[in-house]
Amino acid sequence: MTQEKNPVISPVKPLDRRSFIKWLAIGWTAFAAVVAGYGSLLLRYLFPNVLFEPRQSFRAGYPDEYETGKVSERFKDKYGAWIVRDPGKIYALSTVCTHLGCTPNWLESDAKFKCPCHGSGFYKTGINFEGPAPRPLERFKIMLDDEGQIVIDKTKKFQQEKGEWSDPESYIAV
Ligand code: FES
Repeated sequence: MTQEKNPVISPVKPLDRRSFIKWLAIGWTAFAAVVAGYGSLLLRYLFPNVLFEPRQSFRAGYPDEYETGKVSERFKDKYGAWIVRDPGKIYALSTVCTHLGCTPNWLESDAKFKCPCHGSGFYKTGINFEGPAPRPLERFKIMLDDEGQIVIDKTKKFQQEKGEWSDPESYIAV
């Protein structure tokens, strides 16, 4: 009777202390990398890459708050609009120069808007009269809400050269 040999099984060597610490460090590093990866994904989800633009529609107070013959700069910085009260009407002008898009300054003493970039000038009405700007400033839709407050809607614009300033949505009669 022949005796079969058992296959040789190499004995598992127990981890020594140094190896154990090395593997533990590798494990923790991998774990930390995974956590950091998911963490950054979570942050991207919570704070997406979106551009926060100012609201396109806003309330601008009551008509009585605007003096006749004056340009109000109250909403210039926040909403990019001047509010002008002339005898009989209130309108909202865009602060974007029609040349290349800079923001003009209202010069009260000269009664004009002057663009600092290339010198275009606009009357209080928004009509261009000097410099390279090819057309007047645009006006925004303006209306009164149920409480009588002025509401400006920047999604709708009116251009003088297209005859749109006679549109009743481009001004409030006062
Ligand atoms: S951008 Fe205003 S004059 Fe050029």
